[in-house]
Amino acid sequence: MQIVLYPGSFDPVTVGHIDVIVRASTIFEQVVVGVLYNEQKPSGAFTMPERLELLRISTAGLHNIVVKSFSGLLVDAVKNLGAECVLRGLRTPEDLGPELEMARLNRHISGVETVFLAASAETAYVSAQRVREIGRLGGCLKGLVPEAVRGQVESKFHQEYT
Ligand code: PNS
Repeated sequence: MQIVLYPGSFDPVTVGHIDVIVRASTIFEQVVVGVLYNEQKPSGAFTMPERLELLRISTAGLHNIVVKSFSGLLVDAVKNLGAECVLRGLRTPEDLGPELEMARLNRHISGVETVFLAASAETAYVSAQRVREIGRLGGCLKGLVPEAVRGQVESKFHQEYT
């Protein structure tokens, strides 16, 4: 497997995402980071252009990462984006159930395989959901989002929620 698609909402990118991306970049020839555009839920905390920009800044030093958006079925995006399999990070034991279900369903409908990376212990407690909660309430995001984009992320929350 040379090209892997790492899909997600990335609303916003966290240090946990970057941990998975950096480690995957040493295993795969190319990592395509795929940001889901969800028609049912178009308004997250960050717009699609913002999510893409935050990811691109955060991965700027890595030569074999590309950041793209996708909509529709993940398994179609795998083919459309030229990838061969899906990558997901596992943070907690609770992640495993829904992730196994998704991996098995995706294989059932398309034959596309999913590979998992265990989140590093240093980042496993960081989720985008908690980052949004802390950000909206005006908390400091140091060590939770990549330092290169922390100012941008904090000021967005500051503008919208204070
Ligand atoms: O970061 P997230 O929100 O946990 O990522 C979830 C994601 C994007 C991987 C998942 O919602 C997804 O693959 N959506 C695309 C629609 C799809 O293919 N659904 C069927 C999955 S079995």
